[in-house]
Amino acid sequence: QEQLKSIENNIVQLLREQVGPIIKEQSGKYLTVYDDKANQVDLVTKSDKNIEFIIKGKLKELYPDFLFVGEEEYVPGETEISREPTFIVDPIDGTTNFIHGFPYSCCSIGLAVGGKSVMGAIFNPHLDQLFHASKGNGAYVNDQKIDVANRPLTLQKSVFGLEGGADRADSPGSNFDIKMATYKNLLSDKGGFIHGFRSLGSAAMNVCYTALGIFDGYWEGGCWAWDVCAGWCILEECGGVMIGGNKGEWEIGIDRRVYFAIRGGCSKEEQKQFAQDFWNQTTGD
Ligand code: IPD
Repeated sequence: QEQLKSIENNIVQLLREQVGPIIKEQSGKYLTVYDDKANQVDLVTKSDKNIEFIIKGKLKELYPDFLFVGEEEYVPGETEISREPTFIVDPIDGTTNFIHGFPYSCCSIGLAVGGKSVMGAIFNPHLDQLFHASKGNGAYVNDQKIDVANRPLTLQKSVFGLEGGADRADSPGSNFDIKMATYKNLLSDKGGFIHGFRSLGSAAMNVCYTALGIFDGYWEGGCWAWDVCAGWCILEECGGVMIGGNKGEWEIGIDRRVYFAIRGGCSKEEQKQFAQDFWNQTTGD
């Protein structure tokens, strides 16, 4: 627990001193050349690559024995997330926001051990919000401990974080198709009839807002481990849970591709009921 706290402190310092200023300075300037990865909406900039390079160098210097998985050097089908201590890093989460200057781009650094998130730090320099936590040590925004107020959790009275994502292949039963049908069911007066949804354009920010209890849930198919690893620990330290997006997936690993974050500030029974009620609205299996 003490060692984790010391790692957390070092990552917080790295984010605040070296990474945050670059994100803040470069966002929205259209100065960086950007490119697409999987398709024309899966974007990457020079800053994503530059920041990942800086973080990897620093982490190798501080923790030479720990493994490293970064979004920008991930090779589909090759890169695996081992059960050894592994830093899982998204240099800029919300790259589309970063390019367009919407102030919700952040850097997310998580540490997974045995496939579980044990430390996480996420910095959105535009709003000066640095979320951080390590297992058993509580969660903080900047220096303020997060304390989620108790209040009832029900699907009907919920606000969800939802995202379009970059996977837009549109055919019956596709990830995109399931997502859109689920969003319709959640909002419709014949379905969940929830209070509403918000889209921050960053998985890490959506998880943090769920950790704070502002969002009741965040559900997305198509995320990667680096989108959620850091937020997962922050969420759990706030009494929340991360489960699977498809029916019955109460226990999931870090390399799952459909994640469902549920806030704390309520009982485990309420969280379970919330998940059941949500699963009844999704067309995924
Ligand atoms: C993406 C963002 C987006 C989410 C995608 C992520 P990136 O990460 O978090 O909100 O919908 O699933 O992959 O590409 O900006 O690092």
